[in-house]
Amino acid sequence: MEKIIIRGGHRLAGRVKVEGAKNAVLPIQAAAILASSGNIVLSNVPLLADVATMNQLLRFLNLTVDFTTEKHQLVIDATAPVSSEVSLEYVNRLHASMVVLGPLLARTGHAKIALPAGGVDGSRPVSLQIKGLRQLGAVIEQQDGFIEAHADHLVGQRICLDFPSVGATESIMMAATLASGITTIENAAREPEIVDLAAVLNKMGARVHGAGTDVIRIQGVNFLHGCEHVVIPDRIEAGTYMIAAAVTNGDVVVEGAIPEHNAALIAKLEEMGVTVIRQDDGIRVFGTAVLIPAAIQTLPYPGFPTDLQPPMAVLQLLANGTSSLAETIFKHRFVHLKELRRMNAHFQLNGDTAVFSGPTHFRGAEVAATDLRTGAALVLAGLVADGLTQVQNLQYIDRGYYHFDQKLRQLGAEIDRVDRDDKNSQ
Ligand code: UD1
Repeated sequence: MEKIIIRGGHRLAGRVKVEGAKNAVLPIQAAAILASSGNIVLSNVPLLADVATMNQLLRFLNLTVDFTTEKHQLVIDATAPVSSEVSLEYVNRLHASMVVLGPLLARTGHAKIALPAGGVDGSRPVSLQIKGLRQLGAVIEQQDGFIEAHADHLVGQRICLDFPSVGATESIMMAATLASGITTIENAAREPEIVDLAAVLNKMGARVHGAGTDVIRIQGVNFLHGCEHVVIPDRIEAGTYMIAAAVTNGDVVVEGAIPEHNAALIAKLEEMGVTVIRQDDGIRVFGTAVLIPAAIQTLPYPGFPTDLQPPMAVLQLLANGTSSLAETIFKHRFVHLKELRRMNAHFQLNGDTAVFSGPTHFRGAEVAATDLRTGAALVLAGLVADGLTQVQNLQYIDRGYYHFDQKLRQLGAEIDRVDRDDKNSQ
């Protein structure tokens, strides 16, 4: 078992390059299922564990997947007959695996997918996706630990989502590309990753309009084909480095970051006294010695992203006074705070709002990631903590951050990734 060891107290400075967006590429990989002719050729694909798991899932479905990692290029061939059953192994390893439901149903008329641990009412519910696909004419049942869907023929409908769910918007949008007639998704998610998926679908021959707004209109077509596409930069990875720069009072250019994709984060950083400069090649962040407290609420895009809430909590804890963080997307997403408490963080939880008393003098400690973004938050706290911080459970960090320790080291952090028993770690 490996761990990351950080000796805190170094300002980050320099340039860091953003990878392709994990949350864009995963649904695009799933969209490849829809292409009955030609290859889907994707560039700027991040080398992440989640991407590899989705590739394995696609191979299990009889797609041919070639990942040239040196070129960050993924070639997916879905021209052979596609099988339609996804086993628990993949679903448990990859939250996003449920997004294959829509494309599988549209391509094969059938999908049988194991229910993730916790079931449909667990931490990652799919009820909105199922409701929408039913409206398109699918018959969907849940039994024996599986969701099974059949549809001889999907028919376009007006679907109004109860909540702008990213996964539901993506899955329904993909299914609707091959439905007959017009589908309208109202109260659709507006994330940049939805826009990127729609761009790919349109290159494949689909007719999707309005992605990026809350009404998406899809005119069904008879078949879809291969295409080439460059995946957008990862706004969550970019945001994490922007926050890391602010946390260490550093000066970092996050190369390739798109300011419009991180507008909510930029607004909050500026409110806290951090300087953010929009450059042609990315975003430059200068820290400040005294951070101003801020009240933050997570919201669907373009609001403050829930995925940046854990790292942002570290910055709020460093601010000079009382800050608050209201989590409205994933209730109870506060596990990171319990780990940060080991590092001397003081906070109170009032329902889904955390109230922080700063400034915090983080102390190095042994902590464990419990999910991807908790892992990022713990590393960021380690960058400013007194003494040594040891972060375990790196498999979570590897799901979403490519070479996290190396990139931070290049920016000047004293950070190492070692085997648990490595004597150098002592
Ligand atoms: C995606 C992102 C994830 C991000 C999240 C919110 C990917 C691979 N993952 O996840 O990183 O944190 O968006 O920005 O893109 N909900 C329901 N019923 C449903 C579906 C969702 O109640 O059927 C609820 C969820 O419990 C959650 C909220 O809606 O509270 C957001 O979920 P959703 O937007 O679907 O997120 P994901 O697509 O799972």
